[in-house]
Amino acid sequence: MKYNKKVLKFFRKIKNSGSIKDNYLVGTGMVGSPACGDVMKLQILVNKDNIIKKARFKTYGCGSAIASSNYLTKILIGKTIKQAKKINNIKILKYLKLPKIKIHCSILAEQVLKKTINNLFHKRK
Ligand code: FES
Repeated sequence: MKYNKKVLKFFRKIKNSGSIKDNYLVGTGMVGSPACGDVMKLQILVNKDNIIKKARFKTYGCGSAIASSNYLTKILIGKTIKQAKKINNIKILKYLKLPKIKIHCSILAEQVLKKTINNLFHKRK
């Protein structure tokens, strides 16, 4: 399978991998794909003005899943939670130009983002 240059860039140049020490300002989400066994974890550190200051990921999976999560963290930093909620797999898919067979990798990124934001709101209740 031939990957687009953007996928290769975000697969090879990992910027935001790792973890953030958990506290009430940190949202954490983890999702897995039963179809392929890939797992994606995302953490965001959000300040009191609801701006994402840090985003970190850990992905066990294919190159497209790693590129999707790496790209996701890049576009999350500096966004408000309201803006982050608008990010979906189509945005990731279009930017990375993922092949059809890899669409579910971008869906995994959207799912982990939703779970992470839900976790943050749950903590703040
Ligand atoms: Fe499963 Fe990429 S092949 S997430």
